[in-house]
Amino acid sequence: MQPPYRALITGASSGIGAATAKLLARSGATVGLVGRRADRLSAVLADCQVHSPASRMWVADLGDLQAAEDLADHAWETLGGLDVLINNAAVPKVTSVTALTPAVVEDVMAVNFFSPVRMTLRVLPRMLERGRGVIVNVASVGGRVGVAREAAYSASKFALSGWSESMAMDLHDTPIEVRLIQPGPIDTDIWDRPGEDRAIYDGPKEPPELVANGILAAIEGDRFEHYLPDLSAVIAYKVADIDGYIAAASFTETTSSPPASDRKESE
Ligand SMILES: NC(=O)c1ccc[n+]([C@@H]2O[C@H](COP(=O)([O-])OP(=O)(O)OC[C@H]3O[C@@H](n4cnc5c(N)ncnc54)[C@H](OP(=O)(O)O)[C@@H]3O)[C@@H](O)[C@H]2O)c1
Repeated sequence: MQPPYRALITGASSGIGAATAKLLARSGATVGLVGRRADRLSAVLADCQVHSPASRMWVADLGDLQAAEDLADHAWETLGGLDVLINNAAVPKVTSVTALTPAVVEDVMAVNFFSPVRMTLRVLPRMLERGRGVIVNVASVGGRVGVAREAAYSASKFALSGWSESMAMDLHDTPIEVRLIQPGPIDTDIWDRPGEDRAIYDGPKEPPELVANGILAAIEGDRFEHYLPDLSAVIAYKVADIDGYIAAASFTETTSSPPASDRKESE
């Protein structure tokens, strides 16, 4: 799809979502921004409105699934329809499986998986009726390979990847297109959210603009899955040797520094 189009972007208050909103607005799209931090959203909106005055923002907690559905309806009505839905909002959960509770896992699944599902199912019938639409789901490389200490997060991203893949098949003979974005390590707030243990990975990170550019190219192009940066070799390695992959990833965990929770106990 080429601009002009109307795009609703969840998690637009920082990181990849903010960079994507600004890029799409500069490219001629009208953007709808969603997040919980009103001040951060307002700053992103001001930037977007320089190029796209009809752009709007909504403060909403997408962990509230009824609020997520209502927001999808409201944005559709306010913007006069949606051509693109970018399900980007997510929370991290960096902790060993031994410290997880069902409630914590369900909270992660609500934001990272069930809110995209709810919002997609609200807009899909109307996109089909209009004969135009792109659903962009931002998952993660951690949605194709398990990540140590991130069982809840990885599960939510595997769910989003599987959902997207099947949805693309079900919609292949319709005008609705599905795109799956698989970011690698990107330099955003997600690595520094309070209450998380330290992630295993501490290598270099790419700027969020790399993913924003990839999302724009995905909307305009015709390929389903986009690794940004291209870490598809890691997935190929895992698929070829899952036992080797688990052993290597587990080895990394036991030889890295202890998580924040362990450090606090020993201090
Ligand atoms: N950064 C990476 O290395 C990386 C790697 C792989 C995948 N990803 C994925 O990329 C996407 C964007 O993440 P990011 O890296 O840009 O991190 P980020 O800066 O933390 O962005 C996350 C966004 O989600 C929003 N959000 C979180 N919980 C929400 C809720 N309950 N309701 C509404 N909005 C909520 C946040 O806004 P508020 O806090 O204002 O609500 C924020 O705008 C996520 O899907 C993430 O899983 C990132």
